[in-house]
Amino acid sequence: SAAEKGGHDYFMLKEIAEQPKAVADTLLGRIDGAGSLRLDEVRIPPHELREVDKVVIVACGTAFHSGMIAKYAIEHWTRIPCETELASEFRYRDPILDHRTLVVAISQSGETMDTLMALRHARQQGAKVLAICNTNGSTIPRESDAVLYTHAGPEVAVASTKAFLTQLVACYLVALYLGQIRGTKWGDEIRTVIRQLSEISGAVEQVLETMEPVRELARSLAGHDTVLFLGRHVGYPVALEGALKLKELAYMHAEGFAAGELKHGPIALIEDGLPVVVVVPSPRGRSLLHDKIVSNIQEIRARGARTIVIAEEGDEAVVPYADHLIRIPITPTLLQPLVSTVPLQVFACELATARGNDVDQPRNLAKSVTVE
Ligand code: G6P
Repeated sequence: SAAEKGGHDYFMLKEIAEQPKAVADTLLGRIDGAGSLRLDEVRIPPHELREVDKVVIVACGTAFHSGMIAKYAIEHWTRIPCETELASEFRYRDPILDHRTLVVAISQSGETMDTLMALRHARQQGAKVLAICNTNGSTIPRESDAVLYTHAGPEVAVASTKAFLTQLVACYLVALYLGQIRGTKWGDEIRTVIRQLSEISGAVEQVLETMEPVRELARSLAGHDTVLFLGRHVGYPVALEGALKLKELAYMHAEGFAAGELKHGPIALIEDGLPVVVVVPSPRGRSLLHDKIVSNIQEIRARGARTIVIAEEGDEAVVPYADHLIRIPITPTLLQPLVSTVPLQVFACELATARGNDVDQPRNLAKSVTVE
């Protein structure tokens, strides 16, 4: 009913709108007065976490994209090698695991069979498993050594939105916590980022307030067959997530690429008028990365692409090459997915609606996939 949807036409719209609160709730009580992380609920003792020499993240679908982003954060702040793998591929390649391996299983529902089988395999090999999950008491957290719950609240729409943002928050918390207890050269940065993370829900709110042009743009593209998404660094998984949303909801051919791979193949797909969404990293910090993506935008535009550029406020370098410019608030580089994903959710939802699709119940998909 309309009441259940909080006055929105679809659960997905309600859940998109709930994201600032979901993010804030997932941080609640986890940062102490001194600005340090308190994750006592993660019942793997600090001395064991200090011995971890490898992190392996397993997940499916949208949760897998949060895991891809987590890899950048974990390796940067902890200096522990980290790999992210599709849960459905994991156990079949006989992965190298032992008691010093920390496996992180990410799942909104806590019931995804592929993820469950991956964690069972990991535990049989002696690895410790930490679940990141949105559903209290579900199978994946019950079978794990520890759990960090996301507090998105119930997610009804098949396509994951608020659960994804809270998975990202939980992944950052794990990365920062491991960095905090192990003590790395990034100690000062870790403290700063914890503070910035504690304020990030305001930035998500800000994005939501400026989405009307994105909806308008989405409607104008309803007749297209293909949309491509490009990103670099943490913007790459964001591009994959933007493409997945469009497949799931709009039933369009949508693909995400690492922008650096363009010249190795995908650039051949560019033709006149093809919409290409580009997720641009901050021009501050890793500025080389920014320069490279600006060249990528130039390259595709010269070949006829209609460029839809998602870039930080104040980033002027992209302006000459953007047919459509979507502004997002300034955030630390690694946290940008928390704001850059939101326009892509709104874009897919609106485009799918314009094509007459039911965004809450897309064809052929299930909210929770309990078969392998
Ligand atoms: C299904 C859903 C996706 C979800 C994936 C993983 O495919 O349609 O939205 O990302 O499962 O689900 P989980 O509950 O494990 O996060």
